[in-house]
Amino acid sequence: MKTIKIGQFGFGCVGEGLFDIVTDQKKNLPIAYQKICIRDINKSRKAPLEILTDNPKDLFEDVEINLIVELINDADHAFKIVSTAIRKGIPVVSANKKMIAIYYGEIQKLIAEYKTPFLYEGAVCGAIPILQTLENYYQFDKISKVEGIFNGTTNYILTKQFEEKIPFNLALKDAQAKGFAEVDPTSDIDGLDPKYKLKILLAHSFGLDVPVDQIFATGIRNISQNDISYAKNKGLKYRLISKIIKHENQVCALVCPILVKESDLAYKIDHENNYVSITAEYTGKQLLYGKGAGSHPTGIAVFSDITGVINGLSYTKSIDSNLSFTNEVFIEILISAQNLKLLDNVKFNEAYQVYESQGYFYKTGKVSINSLLSTVTDDLFIGLINNKVEFEKGEELLLV
Ligand SMILES: NC(=O)c1ccc[n+]([C@@H]2O[C@H](COP(=O)([O-])OP(=O)(O)OC[C@H]3O[C@@H](n4cnc5c(N)ncnc54)[C@H](OP(=O)(O)O)[C@@H]3O)[C@@H](O)[C@H]2O)c1
Repeated sequence: MKTIKIGQFGFGCVGEGLFDIVTDQKKNLPIAYQKICIRDINKSRKAPLEILTDNPKDLFEDVEINLIVELINDADHAFKIVSTAIRKGIPVVSANKKMIAIYYGEIQKLIAEYKTPFLYEGAVCGAIPILQTLENYYQFDKISKVEGIFNGTTNYILTKQFEEKIPFNLALKDAQAKGFAEVDPTSDIDGLDPKYKLKILLAHSFGLDVPVDQIFATGIRNISQNDISYAKNKGLKYRLISKIIKHENQVCALVCPILVKESDLAYKIDHENNYVSITAEYTGKQLLYGKGAGSHPTGIAVFSDITGVINGLSYTKSIDSNLSFTNEVFIEILISAQNLKLLDNVKFNEAYQVYESQGYFYKTGKVSINSLLSTVTDDLFIGLINNKVEFEKGEELLLV
């Protein structure tokens, strides 16, 4: 077997994790690092100095390199790297969910034109092998629902708030100290990180290329300890859920905190863990559970893609669907804010209740995802009060 000579971009959390795994696996596979490109050449690294560079050309002009691994934290720059590799016919592996979600359509066109392998298992829930599972086991099944907890940082924060009754800011600081949350936690706490994953899963499970700005996602930035304890007193807790649901030929998706009860699967998923469940006609409901991020868990997903490329693997699910994406579906939510006026930001189709508790104002009711998409959520907490989604079909409202 020809030796795989890796040209890697990025040597941070995931890049270093992969480096450890490649170093460990060299005895089993003909695989070696040729060059690693980073931003700051002066930082001390565990990789040998002679293979480090800060010039991308050193990788693209090295004819020995036969696989590019993209592990940087800048989506636009990552797209430049990935598209250059695809155009040059060099197989490429990435874990960059934001880049893949935003540039999905362009990447698909490039792959179709240049026939270059591109794999990205590490981009969706770290070590959980969801993309390969969908590829290998669900090609001929009829999926009706994909849902789960796709973000470890927010799950860790929610667990801390629930168990230790500490405010959001302290729980976030703890998550940052433990390395789960980044210095700028926006992507996690505003639900963007799970939204990118959901977008990729919409493509891999339903063949839909939905623009990222068409997917409603809200996070836990505005969750108060009052929200947590109010729920806890009723035997409930919040989990940041991501879900895709198909009904007949329509598909909807959202990322939103949800109130779950002890008998719900999501209730039992604590700390930084993730899960993905897939519901399909022949298989019923199946569950994947585990570490959705981290240096070695994501590193091994990237390593599996490298071995996948060696074995001639490519994704076969294409954007070719008789399904349509819709936000004209209805969900039941509660909203809370310290300023009563902010509750007017949400246009309810049906309002159920308005109440006040410990200085917070609450409103519950039924709302369409479409109207939530245009809602300003600054200073407003939004949570699903149940797991129902109503699809509109003519006059009839169907419950899934
Ligand atoms: N962390 C996780 O658990 C996890 C899980 C799944 C997916 N991912 C994804 O994996 C990717 C990497 O994440 P990470 O956590 O490893 O990031 P990170 O720790 O912040 O490291 C980023 C690396 O990229 C390098 N870099 C940034 N811009 C560059 C450029 N223009 N050219 C070359 N190198 C550049 C940085 O160089 P310097 O070292 O010189 O600053 C650094 O080594 C991201 O797309 C992330 O979303 C991460």
